[in-house]
Amino acid sequence: MQKRRLGIAVVGLGGAVGTTMVAGIELLKKGVIDTAGLPLAGFKEADLADYSDIVFAGWDLSGVHLAKAAEVHDVLTHKQFVAAEDALRRIKPWPAVGNDKFLSNIEGENRITRGSHRETIEKIRSDLKSFANECDSVVVINLASTEKLAAEGNEIFNSLADFEAALDDNSPDISPAMFYAYAAISEKIPFGNFTPSVAADIPALIELAGKNNVPIAGKDGKTGQTFIKTVLAPALRSRALKVDGWYSTNILGNRDGLALSNEDSLASKVKTKSSVLEDILGYPVEDHIVDIRYYRPRGDNKEAWDNIDISGFLGQPMQIKVNFLCKDSILAAPLAIEIARCLDLAKRRGQCGVQEQLSVFFKLPMTNGERPEQAFHKQEEMLREWLNHVSKR
Ligand SMILES: NC(=O)c1ccc[n+]([C@@H]2O[C@H](COP(=O)([O-])OP(=O)(O)OC[C@H]3O[C@@H](n4cnc5c(N)ncnc54)[C@H](O)[C@@H]3O)[C@@H](O)[C@H]2O)c1
Repeated sequence: MQKRRLGIAVVGLGGAVGTTMVAGIELLKKGVIDTAGLPLAGFKEADLADYSDIVFAGWDLSGVHLAKAAEVHDVLTHKQFVAAEDALRRIKPWPAVGNDKFLSNIEGENRITRGSHRETIEKIRSDLKSFANECDSVVVINLASTEKLAAEGNEIFNSLADFEAALDDNSPDISPAMFYAYAAISEKIPFGNFTPSVAADIPALIELAGKNNVPIAGKDGKTGQTFIKTVLAPALRSRALKVDGWYSTNILGNRDGLALSNEDSLASKVKTKSSVLEDILGYPVEDHIVDIRYYRPRGDNKEAWDNIDISGFLGQPMQIKVNFLCKDSILAAPLAIEIARCLDLAKRRGQCGVQEQLSVFFKLPMTNGERPEQAFHKQEEMLREWLNHVSKR
């Protein structure tokens, strides 16, 4: 089979997940690791790009090369770091669009010199154009720090015409995540949003994706606590066990945790994490509490606790406790890779707009207007059907 080069342009390339993705692909190419943790590795017939055909580029507020960045994140083992170091050292992020209004507690000097909004978009588009020249296809994946929630009801987001007029007016309400999404979709490049930030999920950019025939997907990768929640909740529903309360708490000490220690960014994350239960259970859980704390000693080794209060036959109360000691970036990086491979496949198959079949990867799946399917097993079935259908074509 002819080799294709799939370029993944990462927003937040120097982050913990970004560097883990790049290192992971390099270690796979070298045969240092196997495909454990990559959920679509077994779908050989689906014509997904091969892992070994993936190359990376992207933007970050920090301009250090990826070996330096990965060293700070401390996700890789020493042996893995040494094996990936040369490849990581060769990649330096492009200057990024920063805006303190949307992200105030993450610093970085590697910024596009501020011009007009249109000039900023042109710079992102020209980065993408030169990357596209080296690849057969490109996908953009947003892995940047969580931004303050943009005012989704803002009328400038409601139509492409209003959004473009707001771009011409240099509106301060347009967030960095939207700049990247707009630039990618304008270049007819698929865009996946792994973060809770508002990006391609505004009506204006969904409209642009339809007009330009570009697949988009989001948002907020479903990696740890919400993954387990969307596995457990359907089982409780199916046994008619009533959920009286669900207390979820997390401690994490990586830079994502630092970004989330800002109340505005935290609000974006809590929104995507809180949305899943009611849709699965079919009734509101008044005492569904989600708590996220930045706790430095843990670094990337996040800990999530869940206490679930349920009641069953005869109204008798019971409790379930779940304690997931996970590794944030180790769970996230392979999913970001799979999202990119699926978006690339969707594009090659001529599919455009919101790719709902990728819901299994997201905490708050984008849909075409309906309420999102949140139950993990149903989401998985949807993805499998799509992959099998594609492979039979
Ligand atoms: N790790 C997980 O399990 C997980 C799960 C779901 C979602 N996410 C989301 O993925 C994102 C990345 O997580 P992480 O742990 O890698 O965080 P991180 O803080 O290590 O990396 C984020 C990177 O984005 C860069 N950045 C910030 N604003 C930028 C901008 N405007 N343009 C370009 N780069 C920018 C930062 O400099 C940083 O290097 C976060 O939004 C997080 O909420 C992570």
